[in-house]
Amino acid sequence: MEHFAILKSLVRVAMAHDTPPLRHQIERLAEAMSAAGETKEAAALRRTLSTSAREHGLTPSRIAKSNTTLEAGERLTSSVPVPVDKESSANLATVTMPEDIHVSLPLFPNSVQENIEALIQEWANATLLGEAGMRATQSVLVYGAPGTGKTTLALWLAKSLGMPVVLARLDGLISSYLGTTARNLGALFAFANRYECVLVLDEFDAIAKVRDDPNEVGEIKRVVNALLQNMDSRDGHGITIGLTNHEALLDPAIWRRFEVQLSVPLPEFEQRIEIARRFLDDHQERTLPEAKLLSWVCDGVSGAELQTMATKYRKRRLLQASSGYTAIQTVTQLARSTSVHISAEKRTEIESDEATLTRQLASAEQKFSKVELAMLFECSTKTIARRLDLASEDGGANAE
Ligand SMILES: Nc1ncnc2c1ncn2[C@@H]1O[C@H](COP(=O)(O)OP(=O)(O)O)[C@@H](O)[C@H]1O
Ligand SMILES: [Mg+2]
Repeated sequence: MEHFAILKSLVRVAMAHDTPPLRHQIERLAEAMSAAGETKEAAALRRTLSTSAREHGLTPSRIAKSNTTLEAGERLTSSVPVPVDKESSANLATVTMPEDIHVSLPLFPNSVQENIEALIQEWANATLLGEAGMRATQSVLVYGAPGTGKTTLALWLAKSLGMPVVLARLDGLISSYLGTTARNLGALFAFANRYECVLVLDEFDAIAKVRDDPNEVGEIKRVVNALLQNMDSRDGHGITIGLTNHEALLDPAIWRRFEVQLSVPLPEFEQRIEIARRFLDDHQERTLPEAKLLSWVCDGVSGAELQTMATKYRKRRLLQASSGYTAIQTVTQLARSTSVHISAEKRTEIESDEATLTRQLASAEQKFSKVELAMLFECSTKTIARRLDLASEDGGANAE
């Protein structure tokens, strides 16, 4: 479609003030375009809609602030002293006020997104729930691989609910001194229970490590019991969020003690595109093929690793602007040198000759268009078409 790039930018700008009527009209437009056979453009419009829903639909301003059934406790400020470990004098937690939290909601698959929306909705309507004899979810366990956005999600939830965060890393709370771990837990929860706050128990599985010591059978029981009792004491004092990379290590009683268990998966191709765009320059049309390329090469990596790749890529492109390297070459260089876990398969594929790589990227699964490929290889679409045609003459990969 002629002028589609402008139309899409227009839609993006309009979506800064996302309203149901606007959405409806954009959906109509996408439908009309699908019907006219412009499926790619229609999909691009729908992507804009869903990205906007994630970024704006759940912003804190939409949430009736903290009219929960929680009893109003003392006011927590960042200058209130936090409890410390008696042996090491280390702080057992950090406190962050909601206005000092600056994170965006990570990009999750729709299934996770829906669960997060449901949680936010419960907390925003706690009064209504209370009148009906119910209450909003008080505890959530978030589990998934490292770097999948768990800590970021917990902080974002606190910001969205307008509550301060008391963030404790449980590995820092565990002491080799008998009885100290349970005492630290007690001090942490007593502190958190004085305020309406989000208590985040990061590296939650660290509790399970106590179990590794055969001499400490009694101690682990004490610690698990202390944790369960302390979690019960939280009721009505805000929200408790446990975060873990190793859910299998958790004691089943602790697992069950959380009202909601939320699994955070590694991002899929489509989410990886959005994540890469977030860390490239989201507002520039030309970054889409680059984000797609990064998403393709980062198959199976976490959001954090993809962030690392995208940030490095952006830096290199800026510094190498006049070097004559193509986007493909820059990504190839990065894939060779990065600590990010690029799969052996992708490492091999990106190193293959241009014609083979072109066919690979154009394959049905990846759907890089000729125009996108021409941008990435910095050649003409004719050259791309020739590479693909040769392949089909050979009986190789299909040309579309
Ligand atoms: N799905 C995602 N979408 C956007 N950014 C992500 C995603 N997953 C991870 N990140 C980024 O990676 C970084 C590390 O994430 P973090 O929340 O610390 O992960 P975890 O606690 O699961 O180890 C953050 O800067 C976050 O923005
Ligand atoms: Mg974390």
